[in-house]
Amino acid sequence: MPDQPMISLRKVSKSYPGQPSPAVAGFTLDIAAGEILVLVGPSGCGKTTTMRMVNRMIEPTSGSIEIDGRNVLALDQNELRRGIGYAIQQVGLFPHMTVARNIGLVPRMLGWNRKRIEERVDALLDLIGLGPEFRDRLPRQLSGGQQQRVGVARALAADPPVMLMDEPFGATDPVTRDRLQSEFLRLQETLRKTIVFVTHDFDEAIRMGDRIAVLAEGSRIRQLDTPEAILARPADEVVARFAGAGSSLKRLGLRRLSEVDWDPVPAQAPPAVLGADATLHTALDTMVATASTRIGVLDAEGRLRGEVGIEALMRAVAEPAALPSGGAV
Ligand SMILES: Nc1ncnc2c1ncn2[C@@H]1O[C@H](COP(=O)(O)OP(=O)(O)O)[C@@H](O)[C@H]1O
Ligand SMILES: [Mg+2]
Repeated sequence: MPDQPMISLRKVSKSYPGQPSPAVAGFTLDIAAGEILVLVGPSGCGKTTTMRMVNRMIEPTSGSIEIDGRNVLALDQNELRRGIGYAIQQVGLFPHMTVARNIGLVPRMLGWNRKRIEERVDALLDLIGLGPEFRDRLPRQLSGGQQQRVGVARALAADPPVMLMDEPFGATDPVTRDRLQSEFLRLQETLRKTIVFVTHDFDEAIRMGDRIAVLAEGSRIRQLDTPEAILARPADEVVARFAGAGSSLKRLGLRRLSEVDWDPVPAQAPPAVLGADATLHTALDTMVATASTRIGVLDAEGRLRGEVGIEALMRAVAEPAALPSGGAV
């Protein structure tokens, strides 16, 4: 990594009293500014403990943690927590507070004036796609997915550079979850937060992560790499099993038509067309559905610009991908 990491954990351990082995044993990891780093692993492996030590909701037993070059263990705890966005599966909205008051919680603690808080709440409601009519509702008057959106808005309220997200979309049905994931990724394109994202769901990890740390018991890192590289070259049997079947199909889901070579516009109209931002997985799915090995590619204005054949999809997963720096353990 060329720049100083935004978050740096060095040999961080946590032993809970009365537990035979540490929940986190010598965890070392650098997280770059603007990166989504996913911690993924089976239940009980230490993901939540690792993440909560970053904002000191849990005090490490040993080791050092820096955020932006500052020793976290020497900072005032409350100040530290207000400076880090925190979103969790249980959402944790205060049931007796309106949506607006929940979102404005941290800015109020920071002493922002009323006008500034109101404006921030409005901007965030807009950002998460909930209209102003949601302002004065209570959490129980919202669906699970809407509550999770409000939870994310609350975490974003004071515009913290660092966010910790612990299974933030966990409590929703698959369709809502899928939508929340893509909405959040779209937000992140402009927000560029540094995010530690915890999940036990490998598919969520490959969707959300710029890099993924696959963890074993004691938060030991089995593999640290891009989703693409982990799917293509799992470090061991356990990672391969955890990644699950269909790794080639999953890799197709990480690439877009815009990233492969197109053939020229065909003389005959293709049986189906897709936008250049469609994933290769969608392209293959469409090919299967239309019983065709070729698909037309449209530009943003909807003009046919070329054609992609099934061979290009196969080449895309056969070639080792060009990986960003900072890959292997
Ligand atoms: N407050 C606690 N006291 C004692 N043991 C705990 C506590 N919190 C977590 N643990 C134990 O530490 C290990 C890691 O837990 P956790 O970090 O919650 O894992 P994960 O988030 O990966 O499911 C587990 O064995 C869990 O039982
Ligand atoms: Mg957990």
